Formats: sequence, structure tokens, C-alpha cells
Amino acid sequence: MKILVVGSGGREHALVWRLVKGGHEVVAAPGNPGIAALARCVPIAVGDQEGLRQLAIEEEVALVVVGPEAPLCAGLADRLRASGLPTFGPGADGARLEGSKVFSKQFFARHGIPTAEFAVCATEDQAAAAVARLGGDVVVKADGLAAGKGVVVCSDPAEALAAAKDMLLARRFGDAGLRVIIERKIPGREVSVLAITDGHRLCVLPTAEDHKTIFDGDRGPNTGGMGTVSPAWASPEILAAIEREILVPTVAGLRAEGIDYRGVLYAGVMVDAAGKPWLLEYNCRFGDPETQPIMARWQSDLGEVLAGAAAGALPATAPVWDPRTAVCVVVAAAGYPEAPRTGDAITGLDGLDADDRVVFHAGTAREGARLVVAGGRVLGVTALGADVHAARARAYAAVDAIGLAGAQVRRDIGLRTR
Ligand code: GLY
Repeated sequence: MKILVVGSGGREHALVWRLVKGGHEVVAAPGNPGIAALARCVPIAVGDQEGLRQLAIEEEVALVVVGPEAPLCAGLADRLRASGLPTFGPGADGARLEGSKVFSKQFFARHGIPTAEFAVCATEDQAAAAVARLGGDVVVKADGLAAGKGVVVCSDPAEALAAAKDMLLARRFGDAGLRVIIERKIPGREVSVLAITDGHRLCVLPTAEDHKTIFDGDRGPNTGGMGTVSPAWASPEILAAIEREILVPTVAGLRAEGIDYRGVLYAGVMVDAAGKPWLLEYNCRFGDPETQPIMARWQSDLGEVLAGAAAGALPATAPVWDPRTAVCVVVAAAGYPEAPRTGDAITGLDGLDADDRVVFHAGTAREGARLVVAGGRVLGVTALGADVHAARARAYAAVDAIGLAGAQVRRDIGLRTR
């Protein structure tokens, strides 16, 4: 197949890498220098819906895969499908599962999906009432998209109220914080479960575990994700419970509400001490950097599964997985996440890619012959190993060979899982 992949991050590089390995021809928009080594990149931004529609028609692609959440929430998939283009990714109605935390929490409640008790607040008074009811051990979330940063985990009432006011009044996340969710914190351990759906059936992917904060030991501010490991710690029984209690009712609920969802349901799940899963949130696309280790382990044809979902008919056979563990270590720019410094030269990448290791590009750009930093998360070094320790050793050996002034790297990726 000829496939258009929309996006420019590490997730899209991993998707393109796997698709090309499966024999597909890929055009990417806009892509990045890593993707450019595998596919033709066309400089059309992810927000240029008409440009992307024209590109897909001119290239006569058999499938469009939309990577990031913003164009999905803005209705890119609807626009492409309206032109008869098979598209992987939900329409704007389904993408609200990620685009509006208020919509998604109310959807969970409507469909009996286990989730933490919560309140929707649009004013300081409502936030104060919610904190009085739920206590200070809460999580405050901006309603709209905030690049993974609109979530504040609190431990006392003053902190919770301050976080809510910061969003509602000081507009720390702009209009994304016009409403906030305040929800009770659920103690437990988190796991990312991604499933591909054609609107009826599910193809549940192996688990992954993200490391969200910038510093080792889960300290510091949240980022988009500093590294992942797959499989994660969760047992097959827990994964079965997540499918039964969360994913299956979600697909049924979407159908009951007239939402034809064809794409990824990425569930952020907290598993409590009794092994019960609670849905924290949904994303409406592949995770980043979860996709990197998952694609490293995907062995069969990814294109067939994505095209099947886009057509409303997932293939009958499940994907084949490499049984090894995969670890992705993110190399981030100086100043990330608050103010990433761009323009620094990146060196040392030659010879790092191997059968069991790929350096996925995320925030990179070409400046003449130089490769330079163009975003907060710069590279995702992804390696396979017989166990997490072997995978880590392969990944960190490459990380240590990369030259980047001020690079930020967590050294504990994967250690939480075993
Ligand atoms: N890994 C977090 C995200 O993709 O949103």
C-alpha cells in the first residue's frame, strides 16, 4: 500500500519504520529527518487540513494515518473520510475522549466504566466546593488539550485550590483551562493500554509503562513522557480486566452514542492494590513514547491492521509480537519541559541503529549538513533485549554515544517494572 502518515514526532517515526519494514510505501507530512531516511516527506503542517486532503488525493494513497491528537480533535479524519479517503483515526466526535476531559469523564460515568469520583468546575467557588467534598488528595486536570502538561497531582486542599485557580483564573493553559476536572486520587500503579478498534472489535496491544516526570525517581514536572518499557508490569489477568471493564464498554458506549470510532483507544489506567483497574483518561491516538517500544515488538503487517480498522473491519488474525522486552529512552533538550532550547547540534548517531535498536527522531531538524534540536523531546532510543536489563543496556549504550549539549535523560527507565 501507499500510505500517508501525518505528524512529525517519535511516534510517527516508529509507525513509518514499521510500515516500511512491512513493505509499504510511505509519504509523510511533514515528517522529520529520521522519517526522511525511510519515506518522502512533504512540508505540509498537521493543521493544514486542505493541504493534507489534496496531498492524499494527488498521491492516490490507499490509507491516511493521523498521528497526533490536535488534528484529530480538529476534525481532520472527518474531512479526509468525506473525500472518500480511508483514514485511521477517530473523527472529532470520538476524539473528544481526549480533547475534553469533561466529556470523557461524563462518558465514563454514563457507561459504567470504573473511574475516580470527580467534579466539573468552571468557577473558583465550584472548585472550592469540590475540594471541600473530595479533600486535598486529588488530581486537577484542565479540560482541553495541554500537551500532557495540564494535570496537577495534589496532596492538600490549598494546593488543589491553587492548581484549579491557576487554570481557571490565571489561564495557565489558556482556554484549555476554562473548565477543570477535580478527581479523587486513586493509589496504585499506572499502565498504558493501547487498543486499535474498527468501531466494533478490538485489537489490544501489549502493555507499556510511561515515565512522565522529567527527573529520575518520578520527581519534577510532568513531560510528554521521558521513556517507556513494553511489556509493562501488569499481569495477563489485569490486562483481561482492563479489556472487559474498560475497553469493551467504551466501544459499546461509543456505538450507542452514534460515534463511529476507527483508531486507537489509549487508556491510561491506574490499578489499585486489589488489582482493580480504574480509567484515568483516554487518548485518541497512539502514545508517544509508548508507540516506539510497541512498534519495535510488532512483527507482522501493521498496515493491514491500520487499513482494516480504517475500513471498519479489523483482520481476523491478531498481530505477531516479539517476545523480548523493549525499552525507549528519551533524550530531551536542555530546558525541557518549560522552555526547551532549540538549535543545539546532535552528533554521534552514525552506526547506532541495529537489528535490535533504533534511534527514533522526535524534535530534530536539518540545518544544512547539521542535525539540530527542534523540539523538547529530541530522540527516542529504543532497544530490544531478553529482559528489561538487557534492553536497558542496549538503549543506554546508544544514549551515551550521542552528543547533545545540555541533554536531559532519565537513567531509570524500565526499572520500576520489575
Ligand atoms: N505518553 C503520553 C502520551 O502519549 O500522551
